Amino acid sequence: MKINKTIAGLAAMTAVALAGGAVADPDEDELVINGEIAIVTQTAAPAHLEGSLDEIYSGWRFRADGTQAMEMDDFDNPGMLGVEVGEELFAKAWGSEGKSCADCHDGAESLADVRPTYPKWNDAKEQVYTVQMQINDCLTERMGAEKEKYDSSSMLNLEALIASVARGKPVNVAIDGPAQSTWEQGKEIYYTRYGQLELSCANCHEDNYGNLIRADHLSQGQINGFPTYRLKNAKLNGVQGRFKGCVRDTRAETFSPGSPEFIALELYVASRGNGLSVEGPSVRN
Ligand code: HEC
Ligand code: HEC
Repeated sequence: MKINKTIAGLAAMTAVALAGGAVADPDEDELVINGEIAIVTQTAAPAHLEGSLDEIYSGWRFRADGTQAMEMDDFDNPGMLGVEVGEELFAKAWGSEGKSCADCHDGAESLADVRPTYPKWNDAKEQVYTVQMQINDCLTERMGAEKEKYDSSSMLNLEALIASVARGKPVNVAIDGPAQSTWEQGKEIYYTRYGQLELSCANCHEDNYGNLIRADHLSQGQINGFPTYRLKNAKLNGVQGRFKGCVRDTRAETFSPGSPEFIALELYVASRGNGLSVEGPSVRN
């Protein structure tokens, strides 16, 4: 990775104090969870990023050693408490049909291919589906339960469970076929400059990763680690809630979690991580 990247796009920012010239490559640390699940935190960028990025990195590589260490052992990872709650939710009967997730899905392990491949085109619904949309369909159409709010704590705990059983598997979302136009919409959003600061996702996460911003090392903004336990707010955070925070930081009106725009953006950002391992629930600051 080039060290002396231009920070022109950021120089005009008033809200963000970039430490002058202080840049850092992602570190060389290797992530193995519980001494057994090897996580790919760096790999060649997928073909669609040609000309933009050569290598892709998990956000884990940009975190301080202490934060990194929390993710290396499930006993030290506070996000695993969410997985435990997710397991309870998976086993309990919800809704008027008296059914649990486990009645139809043979353990969360049977859903191990979900996290690597979502967001994904749903044939019956003729639109791109996130994991949360899929869970809501099961709740409302198969269990007689109420729809959960996007990024509710129950949703994030179930998502954490579904991610945890897929750890180590490569992210592999499809961007062609019927999902292609949604993917293109997401890509357009990624490169659009929003807000008073006129910054796009790419200005920070493609042009300036490795640089310091508000005492934080900018990562590539990958989502292979979601849901993410953030030390800052001491809870699990969903992908789209994170997008919302980043857009708000550019002082723009932001889209809502669950909106078509953020669903498209989630597909696109997921595809920028094709080849990294599923890592959630991860730990970040
Ligand atoms: C009454 C049976 C039933 C219950 C209960 C149920 N599901 Fe499902 N679920 C299904 C079926 C059937 C599918 C496949 C739908 C399809 O093919 O699109 C599915 C699909 C899914 C998928 C996507 C799987 C994939 O490979 O793409 C996820 C994730 C999921 N369910 C999670 C849950 C969770 C979490 C719960 C509990 C809150 C739950 N389901 C409860 C029947 C059920
Ligand atoms: C002003 C710069 C800036 C912009 C613009 C920005 N972000 Fe971020 N973003 C950050 C910072 C700082 C962090 C926290 C450090 C890190 O992980 O990069 C972050 C974190 C993230 C993360 C968490 C990464 C992880 O490993 O957990 C994701 C995902 C993300 N951003 C996506 C986006 C998307 C998508 C956009 C465009 C809608 C965007 N960001 C726009 C600064 C920005």
